[in-house]
Amino acid sequence: MIALIAAVSLNGVIGKDGKIPWHLPQEQQRFKRLTMGQSVIMGRRSFEEVGHALLHRQNIVLTRNPDLHWENVETAGSLEEALALRRGLDCYIAIGQQVFEEALPLADFLVLSRVLTTVSGDPFFPSLAGRPFVRAKAPLLAPSGLWQEEIWVRQRCLFSLEKKAATVRSLSYRLSKRDVSNHDRRKRSWRFCL
Ligand SMILES: NC(=O)c1ccc[n+]([C@@H]2O[C@H](COP(=O)([O-])OP(=O)(O)OC[C@H]3O[C@@H](n4cnc5c(N)ncnc54)[C@H](OP(=O)(O)O)[C@@H]3O)[C@@H](O)[C@H]2O)c1
Repeated sequence: MIALIAAVSLNGVIGKDGKIPWHLPQEQQRFKRLTMGQSVIMGRRSFEEVGHALLHRQNIVLTRNPDLHWENVETAGSLEEALALRRGLDCYIAIGQQVFEEALPLADFLVLSRVLTTVSGDPFFPSLAGRPFVRAKAPLLAPSGLWQEEIWVRQRCLFSLEKKAATVRSLSYRLSKRDVSNHDRRKRSWRFCL
């Protein structure tokens, strides 16, 4: 399963001055819960903002510079190369605007945190109007009331209806879990020791 994952303001902003323009710890926890034990693809700038490999995940960073290397990170010169490297059952693409158009046709799902405010900044997450994605379920408001969770699914996804429904249930379940337990971490971490 390939999903694009992003936190997006009401006016589509995802970043400002190379950083994320809000501080929402619960939203960050949600990213962690969902991606734990899976493959995460990031653009080089987004990765540099984080500054280190995400623990217990396969980290794949997109860069056209073959001289760049980081600890516990695999680099790829194209999205195609990055997808060929993935070892996770699920792959989350957390990229900025640049790769969006290239990644969208490959995504089965979009997992968005809609931050319920307008902010100035760039890059933007392009509008989904006219794109072949529909909301898989009603948005779920976070307890803080500051953002809502949205799961979108490709209209003509290659998944069967049953598999689509099962994946939406599994995504919702993992998003709603309070935290990743140490037990889960131990269980999953062996997979991505580089
Ligand atoms: N709100 C969110 O969910 C979210 C998520 C991610 C990022 N962000 C924000 O978005 C901003 C960064 O996004 P961005 O669009 O400026 O940059 P980005 O997508 O994170 O990184 C861009 C870099 O990725 C590499 N790259 C891009 N496309 C590539 C391709 N097809 N093949 C190989 N390498 C490729 C290039 O690296 P080289 O220059 O090294 O070749 C490019 O300069 C930050 O403000 C960050 O905070 C927000």
